[in-house]
Formats: sequence, C-alpha cells, structure tokens
Amino acid sequence: MIIAANFKTNHTRESTANYLEALSLFLDAYPADCDIRAYPAASSLLKADLYPHVKLGAQNFYPALNGAYTGEIGAQHLNEFGIKTVLIGHSERRTILKETQDFIAKKYAFARSNGWEIIYCIGEPREVRESGSVMEYLWAEFEGIDINYEKLSVAYEPIWAIGTGVSAQIQEIAEVLDALKAKLKNIPLLYGGSVNTENLREILSLKSCGGALVGNAALDAANFCKLIQIAQNVRK
Ligand code: 13P
Repeated sequence: MIIAANFKTNHTRESTANYLEALSLFLDAYPADCDIRAYPAASSLLKADLYPHVKLGAQNFYPALNGAYTGEIGAQHLNEFGIKTVLIGHSERRTILKETQDFIAKKYAFARSNGWEIIYCIGEPREVRESGSVMEYLWAEFEGIDINYEKLSVAYEPIWAIGTGVSAQIQEIAEVLDALKAKLKNIPLLYGGSVNTENLREILSLKSCGGALVGNAALDAANFCKLIQIAQNVRK
C-alpha cells in the first residue's frame, strides 16, 4: 500500500523539515508496512537518506540532466538529494502549467531512463464525468506512456474532487479503478481527491485500490500520521 503526501506549493524548507521529523518520530514508534512517500516543493527538498521510513520525492522536474531551462530543475538537482520518486501528469501541471501529453510522455521516458519510481497521475474534469466518457478520456492520458515499467504506480485523481473537500463517491472510484486494473494488471492504483480521515478506510478497502495520494489532509503531519494509521488497519 502506498500512502503519499503531495505538499504542492505548501510548506517551506523549515516547515518541511519539521514535518518530516515529526513523521519520522511517529514511524519510529509505530513502524508502518506501507510505502510512505512525501513530495515537497522543489526548494524544500532535503536529503532523502535523512528519513529512512519515508521516500522523499519530487513534484516536478525538467527532463534533462541540466542545461538552459530557466526556472526548472533537472536530474542533477534531484540526484543531489537522492530523490528516486517523482510525480508526473498531475492535473495542476496539465491545466495550470499547460503541460501537453507529448511533454508529459517525454518526462515519463526520462524518469524511466533514470530508474525513478513514478506516480503517474490521471483524472477527468467535471464536464467529462458528466458526459459519461471518463474511461476514453483517461486512456488518452496514457498516450506515449510505457505501462510495462515496473516502477510505475497510477493515481486516479478526478479533477473535480481535488481540493474541494468532497471526494468522488465510492462507487465512482471503484468503477474507474476496476477498469484501470483490468488493463494495468499488477500496477498499483492510487486514488486522490479530497482524501481525509473520514473516507480513507472505505477507499483503501476497494479491491482495486492500492493506496492514496493526499493533498490538503496531508499538510499537517499529525493528520498524515492518522491517515497512515488508518491505512495500517485496512486488511485486504
Ligand atoms: P486534495 O487531497 O487536496 O484534494 O489533493 C489531491 C491531490 O491533488 C494530490 O495530488
């Protein structure tokens, strides 16, 4: 089971360090058999080996070792921190930062060539949900993506459920994850979109669900610890 915190543009370097200290103390006291990950802002990255129970990852990178890409960070910058897991395809990068499927596929191939673990994010906007063509939309987000990569996990994050405080309904999540599972087989499938301490247990209990990617509810370290505890108690 993967339980991942996406900090987005929250937490400074100092508060990220405090958060990871608190999380590490918790995991020392209550060892988890989940794969716990945190994705801080780029300027808040810390040496990954400082926190043995947590995989530190990058929310973003430019698909190059280094070079003339003003404002971006490359593999060299992630390597300096020992970062080995990345998010790709998040809807906020697709919509706000205008990342195209073609560019996302380039980032994916680059991450794959570096052997990084990838959480590949997909998700439909509300109008697609209402039109009923959800799976067609989601499969199109796999264009150029090698699904046979052994370090791939996929996060289904319906855009209309992100940051709204209202997650998708359990049946909606089940239908999409089951459809993804039929094709993606053993690739771990995560759900994201207003996950919280109230709904996590039910979501993780779905047979095709292998974890959660959490934004707001993971910003407080103590709350993230509660989410981990809930995940620990879900038996499949
Ligand atoms: P929220 O949990 O804040 O809805 O964010 C989900 C998300 O986008 C995680 O990547």
